[in-house]
Amino acid sequence: MASRQAGNSYEDGYILVPPSILTSRFLWYTVICLGQLVNSSTMITFKNVSKIYPGQQIALKNINLDIKPGEFVSIVGQSGTGKTTLVKLILAEERPSKGKIVIGGWDITGIKYREIPTLRRQIGVVFQDFKLLPRKTLYENVAFALEVAGESNEKISEIVPQVLKIVGLESKVNRYPTQISGGEQQRVVVARSLAHRPKILVADEPTGNLDSINSRDIIELLKKINDFGTTVVLVTHNREIVNDLRKRVITIEDGVVVSDQKRGKYLL
Ligand SMILES: Nc1ncnc2c1ncn2[C@@H]1O[C@H](COP(=O)(O)OP(=O)(O)O)[C@@H](O)[C@H]1O
Ligand SMILES: [Mg+2]
Repeated sequence: MASRQAGNSYEDGYILVPPSILTSRFLWYTVICLGQLVNSSTMITFKNVSKIYPGQQIALKNINLDIKPGEFVSIVGQSGTGKTTLVKLILAEERPSKGKIVIGGWDITGIKYREIPTLRRQIGVVFQDFKLLPRKTLYENVAFALEVAGESNEKISEIVPQVLKIVGLESKVNRYPTQISGGEQQRVVVARSLAHRPKILVADEPTGNLDSINSRDIIELLKKINDFGTTVVLVTHNREIVNDLRKRVITIEDGVVVSDQKRGKYLL
């Protein structure tokens, strides 16, 4: 259950202990307790999860989900149906009011505050409004994410060019965000989200501010990242994108999963 997938090159070094040790149940459990997301049989599990915000605003009702390692899942639904809430629950930005959430073998339902950074480092996040630091170059923007996590300079100088190459911006590393297009800025955000070699990439409306050509580029990039073995959760409104993907589509309406199809279409 701990095997890495073939061709998963940028995940090298992800599993910190040799596979032989992982056969020991006790040690396996210890690895999970240290907050290392693992390729358990499911990567994201929601079991009877509800989220009620203060003021009795019910955002999600009794959600059951099983997302497997390496899956590419689109979450669609109209505005205000609970998609971002679902993303926030995965990132432990919000806590479920009911139910249980397990991410990479780690039950995060009652995650301790001090454990949250460990979880977040293992989940790449891309939002609609690209938040790059304007006074830092592209290189420095990505490096910064690693610096704050206490990575060594050696590791930083190894990883940053790698991830900027994945997104095709290796020739522009010394530019500032204002010197590149919106589509390129979003690609830097994707590069930054890959800096910690996440097991999961969550993208909440990543193409919301992009034209159709740049949107396609971003989706192609997410597919490439998924091909490396990363589980991708894409929240989107874009009917064309979802229909072209021919991957799993989960449709949410008023906080309820109304459809979950293997090779889905945008239904709404
Ligand atoms: N922090 C919050 N406090 C109260 N209600 C919220 C909060 N965040 C979201 N909501 C409500 O929960 C519902 C789902 O919101 P959200 O998850 O952002 O939907 P979506 O991303 O699908 O547009 C909405 O009715 C929204 O107004
Ligand atoms: Mg949203």
